[in-house]
Amino acid sequence: MNGLNTGIMGSGSYLPSKILTNADLENMVETSNEWIIERTGIRERRISEKNELNSDMAVQAAKMALKNSNVNPEELDLIIVSTITPDRLTPSTSCIVQGKLKAINAAAFDLSAACSGFIYALTTAKAFIESGNFNKVLVIGTEKLSSFVDWKDRSSCILFGDGAGAVVLSKNSEHSILNTYIRADGSESNLLRIPAGGSELPIDEKQLLLRTNFLKMEGKETFKLGVKSMTEAVLEVIHQAKLSLSDIALIIPHQANLRIIQAISDRLKFPSEKVFTNIERCGNTSAASVAIAFDEVLKKQIIKKNDYIVLVAFGAGTTVASLLLRW
Ligand code: UT7
Repeated sequence: MNGLNTGIMGSGSYLPSKILTNADLENMVETSNEWIIERTGIRERRISEKNELNSDMAVQAAKMALKNSNVNPEELDLIIVSTITPDRLTPSTSCIVQGKLKAINAAAFDLSAACSGFIYALTTAKAFIESGNFNKVLVIGTEKLSSFVDWKDRSSCILFGDGAGAVVLSKNSEHSILNTYIRADGSESNLLRIPAGGSELPIDEKQLLLRTNFLKMEGKETFKLGVKSMTEAVLEVIHQAKLSLSDIALIIPHQANLRIIQAISDRLKFPSEKVFTNIERCGNTSAASVAIAFDEVLKKQIIKKNDYIVLVAFGAGTTVASLLLRW
């Protein structure tokens, strides 16, 4: 096993107070509560107010993680924010968060790996800590997807929500990250995309008319690849540590679709009661998804000392990531 030197000190999360229910969506697009529950498991999701920025949600989650870790903002050496919905294309959301937190000694950068981003960022933080470069690192997964969802596209708008989750990592603490696994497959980059708004297609009247400034998704293909790659990623990280599935106390998967999560536990023949879900209340919050779920797991005291826990996610890129923790 590698990396007994990086551990999670504490976590936090933030969900906006405004709830968007399936009944609300029935008034916006041609859909039904029954269809959404049956095909996705989602009952409601949180949506931030117009003036509540992605960085504001990130700061709320970060403050809670810092408090629970007993760490002051000035002690942070690095802040990594994983998001695909930055406040602005530049500067990075992490720099905005650094300023709002007054984390004056911290370097800061964003990491874009869509729904796998939080685990990608934890993996990056672990590498920085174990190389001796940094001691205390704040990792945040945060999304304001409501700004990029096409609220006229019933096949995608029912899925997504806003929110943020954060953890503080440091050297030589308990709750170690034992192994990590990150991969990408750019040949599938069209499955999930926001075509306009980057340098390829700057937003102009034509793009606005085509609604290419919003998220597009090939749902069925994404679904299949998500099940396959997350199943493989769970096994990979467990095998690396020479453990077996029966050693795992809890899997915390990306909350993309309840049917995807069920298909993964079926394929692994892993008891579904040991797979954490909050998708019914949060929807898919992309990079924030695993981070929010992880914080809920800690708050609910679902895990105990020395339990093995697997985090796993899949997303646009495509990217896939998993991580094994010993609590
Ligand atoms: O974060 C990671 C990335 N995202 C994902 O992992 C999402 C992966 N994909 C999915 O979750 C599912 O593919 C969806 C929930 C998006 C769609 O579910 P599906 O079971 O794959 O439905 P479908 O796209 O095959 O559509 C089935 C039918 C279609 O009607 P016809 O052609 O059979 O008449 C759709 O037009 O359902 C229709 N449909 C809807 N009906 C009511 C699509 N969206 C809706 C809707 N309400 N919201």
